[in-house]
Amino acid sequence: MKSLLSTLLLLVTVLSVNARPVVPLTEIKAKSAQGLRLLSLAEDAAPVWKTESEVLELIRGGTNFFDVTDTYEIEQKLVANAANAKVAADAAIAAFPTPSNTAAVKAILATMTTSNMQTNLNALTAFNNRYYTSTTGVQASTWILNKVKEIASTYGRSDIEASLFTHSWAQSSIIARIPGSDPSLPRVLLGAHMDSINLSNPSSGRAPGADDDGTGTVNLIEAYRALLQSGFKPKNTVEFQWYSAEEVGLRGSQAIATSYKNSGVQIKAHYQIDMTGYYKPGTAEVMALAPDYIDSSLNEFMKLLITAYARIPWAMDKACGYACSDHASFYKVGYPTTYPFEAVTGNDNPYIHSASDTSSVSGFSWTHSLEFAKIAAAFAYELAI
Ligand SMILES: *[C@@H]1O[C@H](CO)[C@@H](O)[C@H](O)[C@H]1NC(C)=O
Ligand SMILES: [Zn+2]
Repeated sequence: MKSLLSTLLLLVTVLSVNARPVVPLTEIKAKSAQGLRLLSLAEDAAPVWKTESEVLELIRGGTNFFDVTDTYEIEQKLVANAANAKVAADAAIAAFPTPSNTAAVKAILATMTTSNMQTNLNALTAFNNRYYTSTTGVQASTWILNKVKEIASTYGRSDIEASLFTHSWAQSSIIARIPGSDPSLPRVLLGAHMDSINLSNPSSGRAPGADDDGTGTVNLIEAYRALLQSGFKPKNTVEFQWYSAEEVGLRGSQAIATSYKNSGVQIKAHYQIDMTGYYKPGTAEVMALAPDYIDSSLNEFMKLLITAYARIPWAMDKACGYACSDHASFYKVGYPTTYPFEAVTGNDNPYIHSASDTSSVSGFSWTHSLEFAKIAAAFAYELAI
């Protein structure tokens, strides 16, 4: 019933998008050549053109949006195909099991350490910033690629495919693919954004991005490492993804999600983490589940997973809103996604997007962050084995 309802809602959304005036490709080419960006600011509104400085003003003011300049054309094509089987097929796939591989999963989780994550975070925060156009942002992307290749080689996994997913801007996203034994099965994805931003001086200001989203980035590296150490050979293909350019309108994740959808890649589930290392001192330690722009049955699965494998409980967060993080890019094209967050909104990290987003602030906790890495590994195992 639930998935039927969400299918219908998705179709209604898709159809209402379709009813809007279409921005012609010639206009997109001409205006983007002038440096303008096409932004989608709300679900039912037509996208609008903004200058780069207007885009930065929106980010500074805390407005979330999709920058759809590069993906608009492909999305229009998806919309045209959407009143159809593809959307229904993804909803039909979205039946999630009860976690049942307890002994095997717990053995993997026991090998995961906060010190590996701290070491990797130290390397990532040593880059002046990881902004999507900066040299150090590009270097950080290469660093992650080399790290996941090195881990695959350490555990003798020549079957792992690790590569850059390049974009129309300098910094690439990174994908590490663990091929499943049955390629006809839908893939299981885990993602976090690897870019960072200093709001007052994006291109050259200091932006360690320790919590946002260095934590999600190193959580996924550690989950991937622990799975490979255990000899993990899934039935479903599992992909770890690190997104470029989240901070400027979810650009890397949209490029990947629309590209996958356009090539007919089937996705069983997507786990998205963006900030996992902080909770306000004195408040209850939880894993907060976003209630919106996610798949409700996948959230039910997450509740079971957290209860089975985490040290701390789940809690439902307030609505995160439109275009709030990279899960929204997958949701938008009809892929089931979930977004566990470090704290309920209000108890989350106040130091982000600045030089002060470091792992030494009061409230930052590695043992807290570890829970999100553990649930990432458990998610991959329970859904793909
Ligand atoms: C941005 O970077 C500059 C220079 O590194 C730094 O002085 C400033 O505090 C940073 N801005 C914020 C909001 O942290
Ligand atoms: Zn973030």
